[in-house]
Amino acid sequence: MFKIFVTSKISDSALNILKSVGEVEVWEKEETLNGPALLDKIKDQDAVLSMVNNFITDDILQQASKLKVIGNCGVGYNNIDIASAEKRGIVVTNTPDVLNDATADLTWALILGIARRIVEADHFVREGKFTGWLPHLFIGNMVYGKKLGIIGMGRIGSAVCQRAKGFNMKVYYYNRNPLPKEKEQEYNAQYVDLETLLKECDYITIHAPLNEESYHLIGREELHLMKKDAYLINTSRGPLVDEQALYEHLKEGKIAGAALDVYEHEPKIVEGLLALDNVILLPHIGSATYETRTKMAELAANNIANVLSGKEPITPVTKGLEI
Ligand code: DGY
Repeated sequence: MFKIFVTSKISDSALNILKSVGEVEVWEKEETLNGPALLDKIKDQDAVLSMVNNFITDDILQQASKLKVIGNCGVGYNNIDIASAEKRGIVVTNTPDVLNDATADLTWALILGIARRIVEADHFVREGKFTGWLPHLFIGNMVYGKKLGIIGMGRIGSAVCQRAKGFNMKVYYYNRNPLPKEKEQEYNAQYVDLETLLKECDYITIHAPLNEESYHLIGREELHLMKKDAYLINTSRGPLVDEQALYEHLKEGKIAGAALDVYEHEPKIVEGLLALDNVILLPHIGSATYETRTKMAELAANNIANVLSGKEPITPVTKGLEI
């Protein structure tokens, strides 16, 4: 009987998939498993269904000698030492596609929220400060008809782009490779270099994976290129942005605002950011809808079930060895 460890509570539907191929243990506590505690739990397992905040390091993989497959419940897999898994023949899988719409919706909530100062205005009302309509109360910026810049035009970036049609926005995008012309036409988006995008767009949203190339893609110099009335939105991974430099730009009013779902040293946040009004801070909830989290867990479970029963994983990141 295969032994499968799940690092967090997941839907019954996903658990049932896992139970059809092995004996399942679930970590039910809120506290995130990492380091020696994570190793202790997975060292004798054949499979692990992990979350994006379980750091599966080379050291852990070296000691988890029975591990055959890691089904990461997330599209991002920067929490896993992929080279080490590959070297040991461990299959790693992720959960692309099923979270595109949830993440794109949240990105739009952030674009609208920061432009129209929704969070600030909500706090104002709750604090009992609303004493009547005023012509200058919480003036924000238009979204409709403005220029949107998308950094990373993969599946999530494209889903964000399609939603921009309803807001009649001109869309610029920057990607490793330009999209085929038909796609550009379908999305009504124009490929530009990063500098042009940063200099010209009113709302700049990041949808690129975290890797060595994308670390601090938006650093001090890039922030410096942005317009004074432009906004930065990040629902991808925190380390793509130099968070200290972002804080300084926001504090000094060099850009209009930012809306973040992810942080450079998550869950820590550059302290000064907490005191600023021109920023929205969310606790990494891009894919957090009931429907999406269920689909993600089911996909991760199906990937594990496939590998343990000798079939191809549905969404592999690494190939692994044959079982
Ligand atoms: C992902 O899938 O990578 C998200 O960040 C977690 O929901």
